[in-house]
Amino acid sequence: MTRAWRSLPAAALVVSIACAPAPRHEPHFLPVVVSAIPLPPGYGAPVTPADNPLTVAKAGLGRQLFDYRRLSYNGAQSCASCHQQRLAFTDGRPHAVGSTGAVHYRNTMGLANAGYRRPLTWADPGMETLEQQVLVPLTNQDPVELGMSGHFDELLSRIRSDGRYVRLFSVAFPEEREPITIGNVARALASFERTLISAGSPYDRFVRYGDSQALPAAAWRGMRLFFSARLACSTCHGGRDLGTPSKAPPFANNGTYATYPTRNGGLINKTGRRGDMGRFRVPSLGNVAETPTYWHERIAETLSDVIDDYEAGGRAARAGHGKLARGSAVKAFTLTPDEKGDLLAFLASLTDDAFLADPRFGDPWIDERPAAGAAAAPGEWPGMRP
Ligand code: HEC
Ligand code: HEC
Repeated sequence: MTRAWRSLPAAALVVSIACAPAPRHEPHFLPVVVSAIPLPPGYGAPVTPADNPLTVAKAGLGRQLFDYRRLSYNGAQSCASCHQQRLAFTDGRPHAVGSTGAVHYRNTMGLANAGYRRPLTWADPGMETLEQQVLVPLTNQDPVELGMSGHFDELLSRIRSDGRYVRLFSVAFPEEREPITIGNVARALASFERTLISAGSPYDRFVRYGDSQALPAAAWRGMRLFFSARLACSTCHGGRDLGTPSKAPPFANNGTYATYPTRNGGLINKTGRRGDMGRFRVPSLGNVAETPTYWHERIAETLSDVIDDYEAGGRAARAGHGKLARGSAVKAFTLTPDEKGDLLAFLASLTDDAFLADPRFGDPWIDERPAAGAAAAPGEWPGMRP
């Protein structure tokens, strides 16, 4: 299952991640893996804003910033604290937890193929670009995530005092005299995120590369169920990584609650329209078996639960609250135990193992790990990782 899609024929070679190689005498500074990322069939180049064309140097800097804990006021968190590669860039928690311990009212979203998604986040039709989105975790106060609201000067002076980053910024933005700005922090992070392309799951290999052996028999049967009129999953989960409804816009009500919490009611919180109550962005199902908490907040812990909810015609119906009449587009159906197993096998076939382990997307500080037997706990090297 580890066959990497990058070894498959590529439509075009446009994106690569790299940055200036590190001088040997600076052990903290890692040379980022230099390699090319071919675009899978059906994936055009990720859309970029006019003022932020994708370059190797920017994506390389973005990768270093993504894991940079000084992006949080108290130094406790980076983007990667919540968006962990091995969990498909989620955190496995029912609700995200910010740098000060504040609990978010939503679940962390995965970032695979985020460069192709818009609008971004669970329920905000105005969140159009990755650049714009970076400012949310940096400045969010409800809840605090990275805690940088009102502290941008501090953030910039931290970066300016770190020679490694000074160099990376000047390489990434060579035409600028003062490249260390919040705007460029966002541009670099967005550039890195655009390289997080995942299209190597068994399902992808089947649909994109015509590899008829890629899907195990159970997953094949589960796929037929998924796309059947009876289950109708694909009316909402379609397109590139089953994250796009067949009809735009990409928001839908899948009958989670009979009464949605006022503050976390979905699209209604942005639009004020009653019909938008309970409508959330249809999430991609890419790597879904690796992200063990489901939906926009603590609701379902396992995929088996998710299927049971849909089978009942929505979670609200399963919980005995009756079908949420207004807006829910989910219809009840009945599965035999074998069929449920097949559907689970299909969802498991959406896992792209190579993406989850690709060192180009991983922790750039990993090589600082102390030698075996050294005192620091695994994953923690305080004083070294910035
Ligand atoms: C405290 C945990 C936390 C941190 C830190 C964090 N995020 Fe997130 N991220 C979330 C949550 C929760 C959501 C969903 C938010 C929502 O819909 O309200 C999210 C959503 C996103 C999305 C939208 C994905 C999509 O498919 O629409 C992107 C992109 C993203 N985060 C990037 C980042 C970047 C870049 C950073 C660092 C600057 C970062 N995040 C830091 C928790 C976090
Ligand atoms: C009416 C549109 C709709 C239909 C039909 C639908 N879904 Fe969903 N699905 C959604 C929405 C919207 C969410 C996110 C809901 C939320 O977070 O509250 C979601 C979430 C999920 C999730 C959780 C993903 C995650 O990362 O949290 C899974 C798994 C899933 N759906 C599978 C299915 C399956 C399997 C079917 C068919 C039995 C199906 N869906 C049918 C709209 C739909």
